[in-house]
Amino acid sequence: MDVLVLMGSPRRNGNTAALLAPFCAELARRGWGHETVWLYEKAIAPCTACRTCQKDWSGFGCATHDDAYALFDRVLACDLLVLATPIYSWYCTPPMKALLDRFVYGMNKYYGAEKGPALWAGKRVASIVTCGYPPKKGADLWEAGLKRCCKHSRLVYAGMLAERHMGYDVPFMDEEKARHAAAFAAKLCGEK
Ligand SMILES: Cc1cc2nc3c(=O)[nH]c(=O)nc-3n(C[C@H](O)[C@H](O)[C@H](O)COP(=O)(O)O)c2cc1C
Repeated sequence: MDVLVLMGSPRRNGNTAALLAPFCAELARRGWGHETVWLYEKAIAPCTACRTCQKDWSGFGCATHDDAYALFDRVLACDLLVLATPIYSWYCTPPMKALLDRFVYGMNKYYGAEKGPALWAGKRVASIVTCGYPPKKGADLWEAGLKRCCKHSRLVYAGMLAERHMGYDVPFMDEEKARHAAAFAAKLCGEK
């Protein structure tokens, strides 16, 4: 099985990366392949609502030729998409939001003269987040938005792991969080 992790943290050694490590280790232990793409290192322009993508039902069709093209193909090819992000202002970080906007239009051919297909229909999507507030108040709006996006796009929402960052002077990672991350990977592997 092929897992694509889209990583929305700008911090290579940050909390989200630390939480992702035991998750990926568990995937590997179970023989699942995975690739992590760091979105801050990619060129992903915001959607400009030109709707050029709506005229092409066979692929992305986006008028902006940047790294979102390769990511579009990569998302279509994977078995499980994992959106890993720190919560910024109650949602994902800007490059992930820009990519989601590009995909909500480029993947879903709903917005042209006639309603077309959702090219990514049936894809499983999970999320791993870290946040400063308790997850019920820090990650709830992101999860609600992602669930709505999945329903709208005919994706299969597979769940979220959210862990709290207690402050910059407190070490983020501990054994309990590592256990949660490994258990989340095991759950996702078990569902297939
Ligand atoms: C600009 C900014 C905005 C943030 N907004 C929120 C927020 O709305 N809710 C929340 O719970 N935490 C918020 N946080 C805290 C981060 O989500 C938290 O520190 C996270 O663990 C950082 O992950 P990283 O080390 O991978 O960057 C914010 C942090 C930053 C830098």
